[in-house]
Amino acid sequence: MNSIEIAPNIFWVGYVDWDVRDFHGYRTGRGTTYNAYLVVGEKIALIDTVKAPYGHVLLSHVAERIDPARIDYVISNHTEPDHSGTLEDVRAAAPNARFLCSEKGKVGLEHYYHAAFDWQVVKAGDHIDLGGLTLEFLPTPMLHWPDSMFTYVPERKLLFSMDAFGQHLATNRRFDTEVEHDVLIQETKTYYANIIMHLGSVVQRTLKAAAEMDIETICPSHGIIWTEHRHEAMALYRDWATFKPQPKVLVVYDTMWRSTEIMAETLVEALTREGLTVKKFRLGINDLTMLVTEVLDAAALLVGAPTLNNNLMPNVAAFLTYLKGLRPRHKVGMAFGSYGWSGGAVPQTAALLKEAGLDVLEEEIACVYRPDADTLKRLREAAQHVAQLVKNKLGE
Ligand code: FEO
Repeated sequence: MNSIEIAPNIFWVGYVDWDVRDFHGYRTGRGTTYNAYLVVGEKIALIDTVKAPYGHVLLSHVAERIDPARIDYVISNHTEPDHSGTLEDVRAAAPNARFLCSEKGKVGLEHYYHAAFDWQVVKAGDHIDLGGLTLEFLPTPMLHWPDSMFTYVPERKLLFSMDAFGQHLATNRRFDTEVEHDVLIQETKTYYANIIMHLGSVVQRTLKAAAEMDIETICPSHGIIWTEHRHEAMALYRDWATFKPQPKVLVVYDTMWRSTEIMAETLVEALTREGLTVKKFRLGINDLTMLVTEVLDAAALLVGAPTLNNNLMPNVAAFLTYLKGLRPRHKVGMAFGSYGWSGGAVPQTAALLKEAGLDVLEEEIACVYRPDADTLKRLREAAQHVAQLVKNKLGE
């Protein structure tokens, strides 16, 4: 039996995707799961579905517990196709089911599936009595899409939190107490950084609403279920939503003929002398998923770009474009780099860092071909300035 009873009469019936390594650009080195849940009262509800084409696996898991034709309600907590993509399989197997979603969910699902379903809207405070178990609904717009919604089962103090608190982590284990803790926290952080970082104010609002609920179990749509470590997960979300910095500076760069790399190395040496933790990442050999996870709790980000055809090197542009969408806040930023004759990359880097939301220093350090002694001195002075700003930020 592959379905798992996670609380009395509530079952995990999802799909473990061991092989996925690219989730719309997010590098999922440990795979993922698409979690769906079956809530069995006198009436029966299915919470979300799984990504296509795995509907047959979902239905086989449901069939381990009940005849799928007995499903009375299908709840769509989130329109994104990794959770809605097999609704049509479910409808075929459960012809009498009613399909429920948030107001924005109806709009989104009708755009994806056109007139295939008769969506009925539930609002904040609405509930469904399944007979023995109740479903209560809390729309959480923009966490992660406009349609997103939490569903809560008060009798079990159990929250279906959809993308919130998820992790891309394939495992045959279902609970936080059953997996390596460091891996769990790292994957939770990677997920937050890449999917949720830009939604800090929404997260803070949602955590406030969730604080009104008595929650002992958090069931996200990806990865493991939080029980014993749920408070740690919520505390981490609070820190990340407010961009609480660690004493850490990142130096991220690309290089053509080592000039920008020499500048990066000089910054690392100077920041190290200031007593800070510094991490250096060359673009092109480090994936963006990992890099923005490092950015999440860094106090400063220094980005180096060589000039190629009057422009940024493409790897730097890709990094900064991704970062801009994720809207990091409360971080010191600085641009540096090299050029041959007409320049371009360093001011472009500074502009993109500003657009991404960083507090960018006025000093942009650009050198022609190789950095000379004066450039290296300016870099060391800039590092001292960055270190002071970081220490101020950390309250040292
Ligand atoms: Fe796992 Fe926003 O979907």
